[in-house]
Amino acid sequence: MAFEYNLEKQHAKGKLHAIERINALVDKDSFMEIYAAARHQCTNFGMDKKDIPYDGVITGFGTINGRKVAIYSQDFTVQGGSLGKVHGEKIAELIEKAIEYKCPVIGVNDSGGARIQEGVDALCGYGEIFKQNVRASGVIPQISVIVGPCAGGAVYSPGLTDFIFTVDKISEMYITGPKVVKQVMFMDISSEDLGGAAIHAQKSGVAHYRAQNEKECFEKVKELLDYIPHFYGDKVKADTKFKFSSKKAKEIQNVLPESSTKGYDIKNVIENVIDDGTFYEIMPEFAANAVVGFGKIEGKTVGIVGNNPGFFGGVLNCDASDKISRFVRYCDCYDIPLLTFVDVPGFIPGPQEEQKGIIRHGAKLLYAYSEASVPKVTVITRKAYGGAYIAMCSKHLGADFVYAWPKAEIAVMGAEGAIGILYAKEADPNVKAQKGQEYRETFMTPTIAAQRDYISAVINPEETRAKVVQSFNFLEGKTSNDVICKKHGNIPL
Ligand code: HXC
Repeated sequence: MAFEYNLEKQHAKGKLHAIERINALVDKDSFMEIYAAARHQCTNFGMDKKDIPYDGVITGFGTINGRKVAIYSQDFTVQGGSLGKVHGEKIAELIEKAIEYKCPVIGVNDSGGARIQEGVDALCGYGEIFKQNVRASGVIPQISVIVGPCAGGAVYSPGLTDFIFTVDKISEMYITGPKVVKQVMFMDISSEDLGGAAIHAQKSGVAHYRAQNEKECFEKVKELLDYIPHFYGDKVKADTKFKFSSKKAKEIQNVLPESSTKGYDIKNVIENVIDDGTFYEIMPEFAANAVVGFGKIEGKTVGIVGNNPGFFGGVLNCDASDKISRFVRYCDCYDIPLLTFVDVPGFIPGPQEEQKGIIRHGAKLLYAYSEASVPKVTVITRKAYGGAYIAMCSKHLGADFVYAWPKAEIAVMGAEGAIGILYAKEADPNVKAQKGQEYRETFMTPTIAAQRDYISAVINPEETRAKVVQSFNFLEGKTSNDVICKKHGNIPL
């Protein structure tokens, strides 16, 4: 018997209903709901008289663009989408099955959290989900869509997944809500300012994409699924209809500004190397001094990383290091080759980032690139200084091919800083200027690095696409033989 969903109650809040969200994601008529008849067994606080259809969460399987997916969608119109024992078991089992069936899991979150009447049974439901989230990590992609409240410990299931999508004015994610903040910290704060979509997209780095409305959000989720393998070992079919405009070769020559101290947008380099219109940026609003995302090269997905000199000179700070490291590890999990564009003046100096732990966060970057055994191609467009040169997928961390543009500057640091240290006691400004010139001529070119075999080739910008294509084609099927027997490493988290 068909169940009548309470659409009006949800629409009155300007939100889609749980089933409408599923329909916005899956191919028409492909959704197979499971356990629609599931009911709670709680008798506390009058619960024995409460019928909660499907225990507040719709679960099942379907297809998106013909490829299978598992989906759960919490229904806020039924007891606030709160999570009781059965609700939790349904989600945990869905993830377990998705691992078995080798398909991504999409979790649509809209819930008041642990069902208060069920007490510890509700908490146990979360525990089961977290355990399955961790089992699934690196086996199948896990995507969380936050379209309502997601409060308390409930945030940790999305927090364990690979990608979190949020929607302006609808998403709320926090460990404790505004009322608790008021009680404990005597602070008035709106839920939007505490854990709204903008906060998590721009400041906390919790969210990977912020949409303006639910429709845009679900379209973006579907688009992502077109880029990524759907399970470990999956081979995404190359899009044979890819396009690459010939005018891009000209455009890429004009990206670098005349002055090496001027910024530019690294996305203008990326767009001129990958197939037309294929850049899918992840976390575009967070740590904009680094850019990460998926793109296609001759129809095949690659993970793209770049320093962005258009923001803070492209320097590496704690947030940029976290953003890049997590993305690199994701790509490595699913055998997505890595293409890195380098223009980096170094790790950021100063007490603020030191106190935040730039050593610990920067170490993640070294760890992630060193550990990644996928094909790795690096292009140094301009600056590559100090530890940041090494960290940004240098040959020393295992890059397979490193290309440098003729204006590349590969050195321990910039000329001013170097001369300031080497000739600190020199009073004559002419001597300092002359030494600065000598330093520039010696190190502010890719020549020495190329002579030492740290650079595979110095190339003109317009050759970049061809070299990248050639390199990735050559590296297809690469296997790493650098495997030391151990349980697992200890990444500096
Ligand atoms: C049981 C709940 C519920 C909950 C909401 N409802 N949350 N029932 N347990 N956690 C019910 C309400 O009683 C109401 O039932 C219906 O859902 C709709 O809720 P409203 O409050 O009317 O909606 P709204 O005004 O939009 O407010 C939404 C809300 C608020 C902000 C989410 O409901 C709220 O603050 N809920 C509690 C949030 C919370 O603190 N959860 C526990 C977090 S701790 P009726 O019958 O009136 O329609 C946690 C621990 C997890 O989750 C630990 C994991 C390790």
